[in-house]
Amino acid sequence: MRASAEGGAIALGDSTFGRVYSDVEAYYGARVAKHGATPLGVDWSCEATQNLRFVQLLKVCDFSAPFTLNDVGCGYGALCAFLAKRHSEARIDYLGVDLSRAMISRARRRFSRPDRRFAVGNVSPRVADYSVASGIMNVNVGYSRAVWEDFVAAMLRDMRRTSRRGFSANFMTEMARAETSAVASLYRTRPERWVRYCEEDLGCAVEVIENYGMKEFTILVRCNQFLADRDYRHSCDS
Ligand SMILES: C[S@@+](CC[C@H](N)C(=O)[O-])C[C@H]1O[C@@H](n2cnc3c(N)ncnc32)[C@H](O)[C@@H]1O
Repeated sequence: MRASAEGGAIALGDSTFGRVYSDVEAYYGARVAKHGATPLGVDWSCEATQNLRFVQLLKVCDFSAPFTLNDVGCGYGALCAFLAKRHSEARIDYLGVDLSRAMISRARRRFSRPDRRFAVGNVSPRVADYSVASGIMNVNVGYSRAVWEDFVAAMLRDMRRTSRRGFSANFMTEMARAETSAVASLYRTRPERWVRYCEEDLGCAVEVIENYGMKEFTILVRCNQFLADRDYRHSCDS
């Protein structure tokens, strides 16, 4: 499924990951039907940890000037509430994208305004300065590790393609065998796997944030072309 600017969904059928997308959509559709537009409705335990994730992800953004932001897997749009509370002065043109129509209709109801827009799909229909993705890599809906890692790589590739300056995403950290939970449908990994991918395959610079009190990590990925342009401008200025 690709996003359309009008918010309509384009058929999944011919997409390589079509079945995966529709299974993920069904999973989250059921969550939000049961728990509504609440942290539990997007599989988070509470608003405090949901917000703590946003704090890490937004570290990729330079708040000193206006910017455009894609929120991939925006759920019911909780990041909009966070931005209103914590960054009320910032001028951010926001687009939330989600596979789930049920999520997007809840997000629109709560947060729609000219600079807060939403689309149904698995990839942003526009290129923005930054993209963030909170929680989209975690629930592998029963697929093998190999399939899921191909899927994660495709999502990161899409974020790279639709982000001018940088993007960020979070992952659950791989645990020692003794700690491993019984939940087989959760994807856990190590930072090195995805740092290498973003550096070598996507040509980006990566910073890893860990130790923010949860068993997960966040990657801040800066697009090298943007870094190269910025360094060139600085060298001309000095
Ligand atoms: C764990 S929830 C988090 C929602 C929101 N980011 C938040 O933190 O409140 C993950 C959301 O991502 C959506 N999602 C998962 N994979 C996606 C993808 N590849 N493209 C778009 N949305 C996706 C799901 O439908 C779900 O609403």
